[in-house]
Formats: sequence, structure tokens, C-alpha cells
Amino acid sequence: MSKEAISAPLLDIKDLNISFQQAKGDIRVVNSVSFSIPQGTIFGLAGESGSGKSLTALSIMGILPGSAKARGSIRFKGNEILNLSDGKMRSIRGKEISMIFQEPMTSLNPVLKIGYQVKEAMLAHLPVSKKEAQNRAIELLRSVMIPSPEARMNDYPHQLSGGMRQRVMIAMAIACNPSLIIADEPTTALDVTIEAQILDLIDKLREERNLSVLLITHDLGAIARHAHTVAVMYAGRIVELAPVSEIFSGPKHPYTIGLLESIPFKNKKGVPLKPIPGSVPPPWALPPGCKFSDRCGFMIPACQQAEPELEEITSGHFSRCIRAQEMKWTL
Ligand SMILES: Nc1ncnc2c1ncn2[C@@H]1O[C@H](COP(=O)(O)OP(=O)(O)OP(=O)(O)O)[C@@H](O)[C@H]1O
Ligand SMILES: [Mg+2]
Repeated sequence: MSKEAISAPLLDIKDLNISFQQAKGDIRVVNSVSFSIPQGTIFGLAGESGSGKSLTALSIMGILPGSAKARGSIRFKGNEILNLSDGKMRSIRGKEISMIFQEPMTSLNPVLKIGYQVKEAMLAHLPVSKKEAQNRAIELLRSVMIPSPEARMNDYPHQLSGGMRQRVMIAMAIACNPSLIIADEPTTALDVTIEAQILDLIDKLREERNLSVLLITHDLGAIARHAHTVAVMYAGRIVELAPVSEIFSGPKHPYTIGLLESIPFKNKKGVPLKPIPGSVPPPWALPPGCKFSDRCGFMIPACQQAEPELEEITSGHFSRCIRAQEMKWTL
């Protein structure tokens, strides 16, 4: 067995539940989510809007909205970090775990120069002088392949293109040598060519720095190209989890199949795209039993009697569907 296979995962989430207190009672929006990310690997998290991907990410960072309550366990390097005090979490966030958001313009301060913002992250967490931070910031901008980094240090965010701003965000995210990066829809605001470059960059940094990455995206193609393992979420639950090669060669949940059929992902020529009928119901109006049953072409009466467990179908391949063994879909 390789060293990697026997070492404990860098991040280990068990039975994570997140709910919001509302007038009509507690609304649970993330339900019994468990997954782990080994060091140096990319874990893809996919699923329609509202499925709970971002809240899962925010709970790892310890920045859930105040009205949200999280239960379960999130272990990072073997230590429990869920619901850690603000002070303790601050020493992890931005240093050991950092996050790249979808729209850099909302995360970069528009009135501060790029160089200052990259340096700030280091000065907050690392024992470096201003001069060292300056030199390291230039090197970081170079490592995310920003041309003429010395000159760009003096630019304001609006002077850069969207792709370049996202590179600055990545430079800030890796400034303190974190072990885990969470990228929540890091390329949604970018065009496809730039998107491919940014994902290639994240993958290159992962390899060079032995980073682990939680890659949240609607783009299954991006997951297929870059991730090692993927989990598909629906209505706050993981409905399928498998090594990437497995999930794309033989998905075992009708929702995953629906996602694959609804996007131009390696779609055989001439096969029309088929949207999944209906839309995700709000958390308080989910059907009984399997939460996908009301949209599912494979539904039988038993599906609405009890919610299926996430069961291992073949080694490392889990599905939350009582008909998983019957799924024969191939690309
Ligand atoms: N502050 C909040 N108060 C109440 N409900 C919330 C709040 N934030 C999120 N939710 C609900 O939690 C659910 C999950 O939201 P989340 O943002 O994690 O989804 P997502 O999978 O990231 O979606 P998207 O792909 O659109 O980013 C949604 O039903 C959403 O409406
Ligand atoms: Mg989101």
C-alpha cells in the first residue's frame, strides 16, 4: 500500500448537518454530509444551485452566517475544527485553509493596490518583515503567471482583467502556504479559455505544493479533467461519491445521470441534451423518502417510503439510490 493510501486524510468531514432557524422551525439545508480529502488531491463537489455546496465550504472555513447551526465533525490534520472559537479559527483560516471565491471583485478591496493586498495576508500570519513580504508577493504573482509582477504590484484591481484578478486571488490564497484550498465556483465569471487556464493553474500549484483542493463547480467537465474524487449533492445530501474515472464511466445515481445528460459533456454527437425535469424543491418542501424521487425517471413506490442510505456499490463508489445496481448508463 502506498504511503499516501495509509496516511490519514487532510480533511475528514463526518455527518455534517447545517440548519437555519426560521419562523417555521429549523430548516436543514445540509444533511449528513461525509467525505474526506487526502493530501495532494482535488475533491470535486457538484450539484445544482441550492444543493448546499457553499454552506459546506463555509462551515470548513468557520464562516457560516450567524443564523446557521452546524453539527457533526470536521477534522483537519486530525483536529476537530467545527465550531472552533473565533480566535482559534482565525489562526487556521487564511493560513492553513484558504478560499478562492467566484467573483474576485467582491473579495479584493477596490481601493487598495494588488501588492498591498497580497502582502497583507502574509503580514497577518507569517513572521516576515515588510521587505520580505514585498519580495514574496512579487514571487507569488510570478508563480500564478502574472506578467511583469513588479509593475502589477502597483495596480488597483480594476486595472486588471477578470482572469488576472482571479490569479491575484489565487496568489493571496497560497501566500501563507496553506495545505487546503477551497475554490467555490472559481471560474464561473470567466470565459471558457480563461477558465481552463485558471483550473490548469490551480492543478499545477496543487502538484508543486502538494495542496489539497476542494473544487466546487457546476462544471462536470472541469471536475472530470482535474479532480480525483467527486461528490454530487442534491437537496443538501451527497447522492453519489466516487473516484472521477468511475462516476463518468458508470454513474450509479439517476441525478448524476441527469446532470451528465443535461450538459454538453462528451455528449455523443447528435444526442440532444436532456434537461432534468422540474427544479430542486425548497428545503421545507422535499418529497418523502428519496429527495430526488419527484424528478426521477426511475422512481418506484418504494423510493418514497424511506430515504435511501448512501451505500457502497463497488469499492469506493457510493450511491444513495435503491436502484443503483440497475444503472447501466455509459457515455
Ligand atoms: N443565510 C441563509 N438563510 C437561510 N437559508 C440559506 C442561507 N444561505 C443559504 N441558504 C439556503 O441553503 C441552501 C444551500 O445553499 P448553498 O449556498 O450552500 O447552495 P449552493 O449549492 O452553493 O448553490 P449555488 O450553486 O447556487 O452556489 C439553499 O436552499 C439556500 O437557499
Ligand atoms: Mg454556492
